[in-house]
Amino acid sequence: MTTFTDRAKDILPGGVNSPVRAWNGVGGDPVPLAKALGARVADANGREYVDLVGSWGPAILGHSHPTVVQAVQLAAADGLSFGATTQREVELAEEIRGRYAPAERVRLVSTGTEATMTAIRLARGATGRDVIVKFAGCYHGHSDSLLVAAGSGLATAGVPDSAGVTKGTAADTIVLPYGDETALTDAFAEHGQSIAAVITEAAPCNMGVVRPPRGFNRLIATLCRNEGAVMILDEVLTGFRAGPSGYWGVERDEDLAAGVEPWQPDLVTFGKVIGGGMPVAAIAGRIELMEQLAPLGPVYQAGTLSGNPVATAAGLATMRLLTEDVYARVAAGADTLATGVSDILTQAGIVHSVGRAGTLFSFFLGLADAPVTFAQVSTQDTAAYARLFHSLHSAGVYLPPSAYEAWFVSQAHREEDLAKVLDAVQSWALAEQAALR
Ligand SMILES: Cc1ncc(COP(=O)(O)O)c(C=O)c1O
Repeated sequence: MTTFTDRAKDILPGGVNSPVRAWNGVGGDPVPLAKALGARVADANGREYVDLVGSWGPAILGHSHPTVVQAVQLAAADGLSFGATTQREVELAEEIRGRYAPAERVRLVSTGTEATMTAIRLARGATGRDVIVKFAGCYHGHSDSLLVAAGSGLATAGVPDSAGVTKGTAADTIVLPYGDETALTDAFAEHGQSIAAVITEAAPCNMGVVRPPRGFNRLIATLCRNEGAVMILDEVLTGFRAGPSGYWGVERDEDLAAGVEPWQPDLVTFGKVIGGGMPVAAIAGRIELMEQLAPLGPVYQAGTLSGNPVATAAGLATMRLLTEDVYARVAAGADTLATGVSDILTQAGIVHSVGRAGTLFSFFLGLADAPVTFAQVSTQDTAAYARLFHSLHSAGVYLPPSAYEAWFVSQAHREEDLAKVLDAVQSWALAEQAALR
């Protein structure tokens, strides 16, 4: 009998439209999903799971929040696409700026990849320099300059870099170990006059979740300012999710509490949460830089569906629902799982560490200390993670199908959802413990 998976593989390369959806990192074939509501997803066979993928970040409110769905329905009835500016685009951009001060000007695009690609072009256009510095294990989408040592998707697929990226492009990208202040300072000492930008995830979440060493983001900001380069802070994943003002806001609050002036990025990229599950992303930042974009300046960027009226309706409704209360619930859910899972693993004698950045977290099996560099992350026990994934899947919990991804909790995860996850982890841990004896 031909299964749906056979049909998918017969028409879509690898059966998927984005690599991490294939279960290459854990083995087996994914069952297509059919429904998502609140904290749960259901597959095409009608099996329900507590979802900890959350569409890889956007579903902070839980899936298909009724207010967001209604906003989408109303917007769709008014027109699917105009190719002209609409009121909601302006309102969404204002909503972003109101919550994130460095976003002085905002350009809406459709994907995170477009946002980071545009940020790179803007940095090169504004500085007249070519070289980009990125960190191993940070993923910034799949544009050529950024697809070098790029973390989760490639790590899961077992490829360090993508084929099809020209030698010239790769030569213009300097890759440094994450968190290595000496390597960064040395790179500026050697190439300072050629560096257009340093791009970094606000907190790396594509090699599992890594908390930036204290002062590392600030050092990037300082070196960029002193050397005339642009700091691009990628908050596509962390933006409005790690906390109300992204991971930048987490560090800003820590600085303010310590009586220290917060550091500022020059450009910021957003995606995921700002689209509420629809394709919206953004590049934002300092006025002088953002006004280099066409039609005001010489750096070209455009998009037929940019600021799409239905997508911006989802994003705007989502952002307006993001109250302090929502963040408190997401943080409480993250605490319950990060602590609860870690305690279970400890009791079962399973070596692990927890990566935590704001409300984002993941586990590194086999590593006693939370890793910082991609080289350290790469020594985690991915086979154990694959066993955990399948055990939880059988128990009705949908984990990211890769050891290199964050676990996403939403405000819709109730006590019983979290308890179901913890029970499933407990059963797996006991089975592992028995196997280890
Ligand atoms: C930090 C970061 N930047 C950029 C991207 C690319 O976004 P998109 O998949 O919307 O192109 C992602 C996607 O996961 C991401 O996590």
